[in-house]
Parts: sequence; C-alpha cells; structure tokens
Amino acid sequence: MADQSIFTQDVTRIKEGMFAQKNPIEAPYLEVHQSLGLEGQASLSGAKNAVLVIMTSLILSRGVSVVRNVPASDDVFQMITLLESLGAVVIFDEEANILEVDTKNLDGYRVKPEIMKKMRASVLVMGPLLARFGKVELALPGGDVIGERPVDYHIKNFEKMGVSVEQHGDILTACVQHLQHRNLLLEYPSVGATENIMMLAVLTSGTTRIINAALEPEVFDLIESLKKMGARISIETPATIVIDGVEHLSPANHTVMFDRMEASALILAGAITGGYVHVPQAPAHDMGLFLMKMQEMGHTILIGKDGVGVKIKATKTPRAVSLRTAPYPGFPTDMQAPFMAALTLAQGVSTVKETVWENRLTHARELDKMGAQIEIHYDTATIRGVEELYGTHVIASDIRASCCLALAGLAAKGYTTISGVYHWKRGYQSLEGKLRALGASITLFE
Ligand code: UD1
Repeated sequence: MADQSIFTQDVTRIKEGMFAQKNPIEAPYLEVHQSLGLEGQASLSGAKNAVLVIMTSLILSRGVSVVRNVPASDDVFQMITLLESLGAVVIFDEEANILEVDTKNLDGYRVKPEIMKKMRASVLVMGPLLARFGKVELALPGGDVIGERPVDYHIKNFEKMGVSVEQHGDILTACVQHLQHRNLLLEYPSVGATENIMMLAVLTSGTTRIINAALEPEVFDLIESLKKMGARISIETPATIVIDGVEHLSPANHTVMFDRMEASALILAGAITGGYVHVPQAPAHDMGLFLMKMQEMGHTILIGKDGVGVKIKATKTPRAVSLRTAPYPGFPTDMQAPFMAALTLAQGVSTVKETVWENRLTHARELDKMGAQIEIHYDTATIRGVEELYGTHVIASDIRASCCLALAGLAAKGYTTISGVYHWKRGYQSLEGKLRALGASITLFE
C-alpha cells in the first residue's frame, strides 16, 4: 500500500476551490453542477474510432458512398475537410447523421500540414492514398499530451509491402515501388497500423496476413464496411487478419457501430451519481471487462438480449477496484480516465495502470484539485477513495480527460467549470445533451 502521507491534502483549501471561480472563464467551457441520482434512458451516437477510419477507406473506391450513424463531432468535420481537400464531394446531413462522399474525381495525394496537425487520425489516409494513387505526401502527426504517437509500425510494414518512404523534416513522402503481399508480424497490436496496412492490402494482389493485429471492435466495423465494398478479409488464430487482394472496390454503404466509449461514459454517469440509467444501444458484448469492473465495484449491471443494451443500478457504497489498460479485449485505454472519476469516490484503494499510452494520467492532477486523493508513480495511479469531491475549475487535456472531469463534476459539491473542452467537441456529439436528458445540469458555453 502507498504511503498514507502522500494522500494527505488540505481539504479546507480544496473546499475553498469552489469559491476560486470568480474570474470569468474563456469559452468554450463546460459548467457542471452536482446532479445526483441521474435516471432515465440515454441514446448513443456512432463510434468516433470507427467512423474516422471508415471515412478514409472511402478513398479506396470511385463513386458515391453512404455512411449512416455518423456523429456530428468536430473530428468528423475535420475528416470531411481532409477528404474535400483531396477533391471529394461531401454532403453531411447532421440531423440524420448521414454522410455522402463522392470520391469519383479525387485528385489529390498531398495532405496539408495544417490539416494533419489538427487530428492524428489523419494518418489513416496513408494506406488508402497509396492504394489509389501509388503515392502520398503528408506531415507527421507529431506528439501530443497523451504520448509521442509515432507511426513507425505503419511505415515499417508499408516498406515490407514494397513502399519506399522518405522523411524530410516532418514531411513524409511514400511511393509504391512494387507492391507485394506478405506475412506481416506487428510487434504491438496497434489499431492505426492494423487499419492502415489492411487498407493497402485490400487492393494488393495475393494474400497479406497481419499477425498480432489489433482486434478492437472498431477494426471489425472497418472490416465489415470493406467487405461490403467487395474486399475479401477473414480472421485466423492467433490474432491474424487475412486479406486476399481484389482489383477494385465498390462504394460503401455502411452503418457505423454505436460508440462503446460514449456508452461507458453514460453508464459511469449513472454510477457516480448513484442513479439508474439504461443505455439500450450499448454494445455490451464489446464492453466485457469494463462491465465486469463495474460489477466488482458493487453496481448492478443488467445486459440486454443478444448482448445489446445495459442497465445500471448504482450502489450507494461503491468499492475500490484495480485495473490495467490493454489492447482489446483488455480494459480500453479510452475508458480509463472516465473510470478513474468513479474510483475517486469508491471505498478503499484502487490502482489503475496505463500500459497503452505513456502519458495518459494527467486528469489525475485535475481530479486532485476537486478533492480526490491520487498518487502517480510512473504509469500507475493509486486512488484512495474520498467521501466527497468539490467543484472547482479544471482543465481537460484530451478527449477522455474531458469526459472524466465532467463525470466528476456531476458528483462534486457545488459546480465545476472545465476548460480545454474543444477535446469534448472533438470526440462526442452533444454528450452534454445526452446527460441533460438523464437529469444532469451541464452546459457547454461556446
Ligand atoms: C486508436 C484510437 C485511440 C485509442 C488507441 C488505443 C482512433 C482514431 N484512435 O489510436 O482512441 O486510444 O487506438 O486503443 O482509432 N505506437 C507506436 N508506433 C506506431 C503506432 C503506435 O509506437 O507506429 C504506439 C503508440 O504510441 C501507443 C500504442 O502504440 O503507445 C497504441 O497506439 P495505436 O493502437 O496505434 O493507437 P491509435 O491507432 O493511434
């Protein structure tokens, strides 16, 4: 057990945090008031991590693709800008969440650095552009607050497939020399590398195997969409994606899976406020370890027919639990920060080990400002449950951190203001509206 003295904080100072909010905060920011006992039914949007890559995969065909259940989030708008910059014609019906992308006259293979720098998922155009034009030029996405985010696994494997890659400063130029199918062994099951390689391999003749591939549900949603376009993809054990190259693909017609990360946020909102929440579209079959940990905390979890839909009846006395993040089917790194918000109020000592990203515990310092007691040692947070959190001003440093702090704000006495919420808008389509429908007092000021 960690040294108790490390956890000792000046609680008076934390309580006074509530009054330290007199200065006006620059918009955009979230204001969250304590909202105990959230209750009701919440709807979900399409999965951010599936839709972005499915959008880049549309480059692989010529014609009009239709994608449904597309969230109107800022990352999606950014990806639309990217596709338009390459010559795609895009119509997005935000009300109906239907996206139409015409890639017939696509003529660009260079992605402007200002577009690349705004969203790391832009690197997922690399495979599709190589498959379509035989070349691509883009700026490296660079590091950000959760980690360095290198793309060496993408590059190494493209090279093995016969692509030459050159780097000048942070500009990467890649050119197909002689495409060849290969058995590619990933040293780590990177989601992005798996997706990028797969999107080049679908139009490479012969059989490509990606061994130790990422098997996240969002990777399977991409596979589903590619198969509907005419790709030939199957799965072998252990963790191998087998791609039989075809000559061309038809435009896509696909409905994006529901967002398991957003589902976990709404379930946690029920948990942290001691409420009773039903998320009928939650893909419970993809959320095993998360739901298991919720049960270990003492919450009652009911799963719907065929593994779809989750009801949570929160315990009033949650228990501490420990977890480590890992590639699927391990505990998802993208649920780690939101889950930590709930652990701050659990009885006992929890540990959370982040193994996927090297710097993804920054939200812990912000939770501390609200009265949480968290000690960080390298990649592990040790969380001693407290009786109460207190509202104050906090800063979100990535998408999931913004969710974590909003959840903590729902339980904290008084009210919490959160800046850095452009991350919130990047990752979610009106999560604040979905929380309000459950009775939460949460407002996004823009
Ligand atoms: C995707 C998700 C992100 C999620 C992550 C892990 C999208 C748009 N984003 O990101 O929300 O947190 O999966 O589930 O789908 N790495 C390298 N070299 C590489 C590639 C990755 O070292 O070439 C490292 C990364 O720095 C990181 C780890 O591998 O530490 C996992 O990265 P990866 O699985 O590739 O994540 P992304 O696809 O970027």
